[in-house]
Amino acid sequence: MDFKDVMYRRRAVNFFDPEQPVSDALLRELVETAANTPSSFNLQPWNLIVLREPESKGRLEKLAWNQSKVSEAPVVLIVLADRSGWKEGHSVVERNFQEMVRTGAMTVEQREWFLGACGSLYGASEERQQAFACKNTGFFAMSLMLSAKNLGLDTHPMDGFDVEGVRKAFQIPNNFWIPLLLAVGYFRKDKELQPPKWRKSYTDIVVSF
Ligand SMILES: Cc1cc2nc3c(=O)[nH]c(=O)nc-3n(C[C@H](O)[C@H](O)[C@H](O)COP(=O)(O)O)c2cc1C
Repeated sequence: MDFKDVMYRRRAVNFFDPEQPVSDALLRELVETAANTPSSFNLQPWNLIVLREPESKGRLEKLAWNQSKVSEAPVVLIVLADRSGWKEGHSVVERNFQEMVRTGAMTVEQREWFLGACGSLYGASEERQQAFACKNTGFFAMSLMLSAKNLGLDTHPMDGFDVEGVRKAFQIPNNFWIPLLLAVGYFRKDKELQPPKWRKSYTDIVVSF
């Protein structure tokens, strides 16, 4: 699909066809496409929990303002943002450093500098850790939505849910924040899509101080 079409046709769809499944192969393609998302120092501090079973989606729906799309969508992703994904010893941080050395982007001697930079940028306070995790994972979530549209799928992002309730129900460790849930599937054809929402214009967006 043309990129502009993807941008204009992606919508948060309220109704999913429960009869139209999303195959494992398509879900994998979606996630692997979105994995090309850029991130701070390439630290990729995101993970996904994939829900397909009616029982688990039903439990999630109760914690998500009873939004029925949680049950109706064939796949619901709990999007996780890793607040510790900048720390020395974290498996992704260590792999990332090794990859940078392997590809010549950094030398072994730069390890202390690299870890120090990550610590001062992303670990300086709880607020910074939260910002690091959510900023990067937000980009990833947007890639998921655009990639889904490109693959002929529809999505619905949701932050109307009880974060601590979902953490408890799905045993999500405390280093993760949960910036959003993402329903994935196919728009239910017998429903009507709401008219496109208004958007800020160029002059609304550009400011000077
Ligand atoms: C992070 C995020 C959280 C959202 N949470 C909800 C939600 O919990 N429930 C809901 O009905 N819509 C939710 N929305 C959908 C927005 O209302 C919708 O994207 C916006 O009105 C623009 O419409 P469009 O996506 O169809 O262009 C959310 C959107 C985003 C990006």
